[in-house]
Amino acid sequence: MKLLQVLNGEPVWPPPVWLMRQAGRYLPEYRATRAQAGDFISLCLNPSLAAEVTLQPIRKFGFDAAILFSDILILPMALGQDLRFTEGEGPRLPPLQHIQQLNLAKAPGIYAPVLQTVANLRASLPPQTALIGFAGSPATVSCYMLDGEGGGGFPRTRQLAYEQPGFMDNVIELLAEATITYLQGQLDAGADCLMLFESWAGIFPPAQFRKYVIAPTRRITTALRAKNPGVKIIGFPRLAGLMLGEYAREAGVDAIGLDTVTGLAEAKAACPPNTIFQGNLDPLLLKLGGKAMDEEVQSLLSSLKTRPHIFNLGHGITPDVPEQNVARLMELIRGA
Ligand code: CP3
Repeated sequence: MKLLQVLNGEPVWPPPVWLMRQAGRYLPEYRATRAQAGDFISLCLNPSLAAEVTLQPIRKFGFDAAILFSDILILPMALGQDLRFTEGEGPRLPPLQHIQQLNLAKAPGIYAPVLQTVANLRASLPPQTALIGFAGSPATVSCYMLDGEGGGGFPRTRQLAYEQPGFMDNVIELLAEATITYLQGQLDAGADCLMLFESWAGIFPPAQFRKYVIAPTRRITTALRAKNPGVKIIGFPRLAGLMLGEYAREAGVDAIGLDTVTGLAEAKAACPPNTIFQGNLDPLLLKLGGKAMDEEVQSLLSSLKTRPHIFNLGHGITPDVPEQNVARLMELIRGA
């Protein structure tokens, strides 16, 4: 598996490629399967249909990795928080008031179908395609749990981090614990490697970044590695800015997903010499296609030639991306 070779530090040419949100609304077959499931959460909890949508982009484009189809908010749902997705508005949860509202013991019974999806995928993926399991990192998941939505910059979470750090600490600690068990379940079910999505790393000032982003991520990577020697973990500390280097040195991840605004040259300068990166084509260029996309892909590829790298976007693919642009991207990478 090319993806695992890169995560082991071997340069592979052309680089392995997959896209964040590669199973999604830009694909008509995804929309049809989601309609069959009824809604997005029912799709996440239906092991045969979730495996089917995971495989759709693999069949169509031949990506080097499949990412489990689920969502980072399935874990808070399994911990007892009500979760809804309304079309066009994104996730909604009742903002968490007390740590006692969460039930760590019941969670595995509720997310069991997700682990079954992993097992189904293990049985049906082509042998060269790596299966990536994932979870949200505690800070990012806590943002949605405490604010109840993602559109407003998480004012309640940020306020609680200053005014009720004891509550915030408890939420983060419980999430770290739950995430270790959840990801161990995914490894046991057959995931080849893992990714931790820290999409809102960028809202935390340095002291909170250390406490809520780096420390819990380190706890998760340390615990998983103790039980699964050699397991590879990709971290995605989106918009980490000048904290990127410290994250790379201390969070215990094997590779770093770069967001769209972090240049490879700048990331190389900030991180230890052998850091492996994943990314980071602007999803807007994948929507636009044409000369602008071709030129940027070629320029990204030429800067990757001598190093182990996983080609990806800098954030998730959007529903308005034309499929033929994805096909063109694959042609450019595979022809490199
Ligand atoms: O293909 C894949 O990448 C695997 C599945 C996956 C989804 N979400 C499916 C999804 C993964 C890895 C995620 C991660 C996720 N979910 C993140 C971290 C990555 C990031 O995008 O920053 C976050 C913050 C979430 C929470 C979330 N889920 C939001 C804010 C939304 C609404 C925005 C949107 O795009 O609609 C979702 C919904 C969601 N998760 C969809 C998919 C395919 C769209 C749901 C639909 O079909 O309507």
